[in-house]
Amino acid sequence: MASDSMQRTLVLLKPDTIQRRLIGDVISRFESKGLNIVAMKMLRVTPELSKKHYAEHVERPFYPGLEEFITSAPIVAMAIDGLQAIAVVRNMLGATSGLKAAPGTIRGDYSGSQQMNLVHASDGPEAAQRELDLYFDAAEFCDYDPVLTGSLR
Ligand code: TYD
Ligand code: MG
Repeated sequence: MASDSMQRTLVLLKPDTIQRRLIGDVISRFESKGLNIVAMKMLRVTPELSKKHYAEHVERPFYPGLEEFITSAPIVAMAIDGLQAIAVVRNMLGATSGLKAAPGTIRGDYSGSQQMNLVHASDGPEAAQRELDLYFDAAEFCDYDPVLTGSLR
């Protein structure tokens, strides 16, 4: 088990996850998979933060609608650690459009929309670093031993 395969990725539960009361269901999937949530907060994305987060898409025709959606209600931002966490989480999300995402993936199981697809996750190590920096200060990451603690140990 190479320690260099431990990764940290940025996950956002988008406004549709919060409004549809799916926060618990989505987080449960990451916990069941054996990933570690090491930072978490609820916030509202501003248009400024949206433009930074989606910098690669700002000029795309779908961007205005995407900004309207991502700023429309609060989100939950999380930092998630695990072995190959960046690819593992992306695979758990499924294809971008809920119409194309495979059953068994989060988007495939809960979304029937290209835009309202519930969850964002970084698509590579560079994006993960950039996006984690957008949402969290270094002091907000809470590393911990993932094994059982207290009376169950
Ligand atoms: P993208 O980075 O391509 O997808 P992913 O979230 O899987 O990394 O696009 C960012 C978000 O923009 C995507 O989650 C949903 C939205 N989007 C649209 O609304 N229309 C589109 O045609 C595309 C490509 C994306
Ligand atoms: Mg993307």
